[in-house]
Amino acid sequence: MILSRDAQNLRPSAIRRFAKLINDPNVISFAGGVPSPETFPAERVAEIAGRVIREKRAVALQYGPTAGLARLREFVAGICRRRGIACSADDVLLTTGSQQALDLVAHVLLDPGDVVLVELPTYIGGTSSFYARSATLAGVAQDDGGIVIESLEEAARRVKPKLLYAIPNFQNPSGRLMAQSRRDEVLRVAGEHDFLVLEDDPYGELVYAGGADTTPIAARDAQVIYLGSFSKVLAPGLRCGWIVAPKSILGPLEIAKQAADLCSGMLDQSIVDEFCAAGELGPQIERVRAFYRGKRATLLGALEEHFSGRATWTPADGGLFTWMTLSDDVDTEARVEESVAAGVAYIPGTPFFVDGSGRNTMRLTFAKEPDARLREGVARLARVFA
Ligand SMILES: Cc1ncc(COP(=O)(O)O)c(C=O)c1O
Repeated sequence: MILSRDAQNLRPSAIRRFAKLINDPNVISFAGGVPSPETFPAERVAEIAGRVIREKRAVALQYGPTAGLARLREFVAGICRRRGIACSADDVLLTTGSQQALDLVAHVLLDPGDVVLVELPTYIGGTSSFYARSATLAGVAQDDGGIVIESLEEAARRVKPKLLYAIPNFQNPSGRLMAQSRRDEVLRVAGEHDFLVLEDDPYGELVYAGGADTTPIAARDAQVIYLGSFSKVLAPGLRCGWIVAPKSILGPLEIAKQAADLCSGMLDQSIVDEFCAAGELGPQIERVRAFYRGKRATLLGALEEHFSGRATWTPADGGLFTWMTLSDDVDTEARVEESVAAGVAYIPGTPFFVDGSGRNTMRLTFAKEPDARLREGVARLARVFA
């Protein structure tokens, strides 16, 4: 066999094959998993990009420090402190999106066969990174309050995990917000069963409902490995994410990153750095929230109109997704083609479950379509699942 053991364990994204569904203008798409380009501050980015290229070429067009630009690390540490996490710039490693952070953490922590606990459902890019290191994945149940603690305890006893991967704030794909009390319980179980917690938080700033408490798990315990990203609040093409981790893990992560890419794109980091230093991130986040808040209301209103009594869905108090559960006999994966033929696309739930469950679920995003198409799309969906 030419391929390494890890390469033999690589799994292509099970939802990429649905990506083509989102580009046919006749098909109204709830299937996308990406932010709306309408939220990208393109003119400001263009102005900053031109300026840093002309005036700061020795930084923006040069190799840079593996850990990232010093001022941006400071800024990110400030973001994390405002979220309640005790840290300084030295605790921050800037990465090429939080996807690279997932890959580096998997590289540095996992040996083949190590068990990673993931939520049912979970983010497919996370599982891809763990499978790529030949890890074994085991699922823990979720309900509307997040991870079900009894399920976590049971799994911890049964499979002796090394790591728990959790997305507590407006999870991709479920849109759920983990209750703060559950976050305490997660840490208690992690302590009792001696596993690490990897917390992925790209959606925590995208809040649409009052009273949503997004305080990270990492705010309670400096041993939690915390991931953040500018992708959902600024633009994912500026590949800029970060890791905050204990020193004993951050050092090896930085060396693994040297091997992976020497440093993240300095032009991307220079643009993000100037944008943040000019005080523009706060107003930008407000604009993004306002943009999605309206779309979310439209989608939820249409679901109420067409699916009330026939399905349940998560309130999407933040993030980009709502998660719909239909009656037990429905198989959403089997209905994708019929649905596309009827002019509406969604992502079936099963690929997000490492145990293959979730047949009667689907992920819907409100990020992509204008309001009128969101309403019409739900009407079409209701006819398909009549
Ligand atoms: C939960 C989660 N983690 C990580 C990522 C990766 O984001 P990025 O690499 O753009 O920071 C995404 C992207 O959709 C995500 O939903």
